[in-house]
Amino acid sequence: MNKVCHKSPSNIAIVKYWGKHGNQLPNNPSISFTLSKCHTETSIKFCESDCYKSNFFFEGKENAAFKLKIDKFFQSVTNDFPFLNNIELEIESRNSFPHSSGIASSASSMSALVLCLLDIERTIKADSHPIDLQRASYYARLASGSASRSVFPKMALWGLMPTVQGSSDEYAVSIEDIIHPVFKTYKDTILIVSSKEKSVSSRAGHALMDTHPQAQARYAQARENTQRLLTTLKLGDIEDFIKITEDEALTLHHLMETSTPPFVLMEENTKKIIREIRRFRQDTKIPLCFTLDAGPNVHCLFPQDCQKEVDDFIINELKQYCHNGTFISDSVE
Ligand code: PMV
Repeated sequence: MNKVCHKSPSNIAIVKYWGKHGNQLPNNPSISFTLSKCHTETSIKFCESDCYKSNFFFEGKENAAFKLKIDKFFQSVTNDFPFLNNIELEIESRNSFPHSSGIASSASSMSALVLCLLDIERTIKADSHPIDLQRASYYARLASGSASRSVFPKMALWGLMPTVQGSSDEYAVSIEDIIHPVFKTYKDTILIVSSKEKSVSSRAGHALMDTHPQAQARYAQARENTQRLLTTLKLGDIEDFIKITEDEALTLHHLMETSTPPFVLMEENTKKIIREIRRFRQDTKIPLCFTLDAGPNVHCLFPQDCQKEVDDFIINELKQYCHNGTFISDSVE
């Protein structure tokens, strides 16, 4: 059996993707930081077979739900990868972050899977070129929208922006070269408020936008915030970065809370942490801000040179609101 192995990081969106159409196309552009510590490592052993066969092990144990997701994805792309009709795969995957930390793993797991798929193709075709990351992003998007952004280090933009050459709804592009150095070493400490599974899957969440009365206004706002954030990132304007980041996080939760049916994913401790972060920023002038994913955990974002003060603040003031005192200190790759 041959073997390929890839590691791919998680990412945290600053401008959020929420709402899609067609075959996994976003209703608005989004921008994210690529993380470094939180990642998925996937290895695939493969050999020729009379039909498609797969086994999937997550952290050493067979996982039927995830196997189904992978099989479905591979079936959906067999026209582009015909070798999938005659292959036996043994897939093993593990996350660097705790399984029950409530951190969404679809971005890191699906981008790692797609990198492995493209590497299998290279092996079969005896192609010595490196993997084309734009193509990887395209297929990662088909597997899970936000995974399209995880194949690029530092920061990525997914979605067509007339001002960014090469940008597309079909794949993400790196924006590493157009961001100020301060953002290339940004820190993200993830406060685990709850380790429970999300109560709304992102698939169901995106669908809620189809009937949301504020949907069109939201997509226009996201386009505006994307354009504004691109300027902010270029200038290194941290004050404006904070404004956009926190507005986007609270907008995402507002959209979920006002959907039919509504979902309230913030917990009491999420709100306490948000209040404490804003108070700390006002009192100390240290530019710490927060963002949220579709769940109760809080991502604390700050420049590298504030690390000591923010670490002390988290340990002394915020840790008490975390589930079992758990937090993960991550950063932009
Ligand atoms: O990639 P999906 O379908 O799991 O959607 C991700 C949606 C958010 O995480 C809430 C926002 C984003 O842009 O990552």
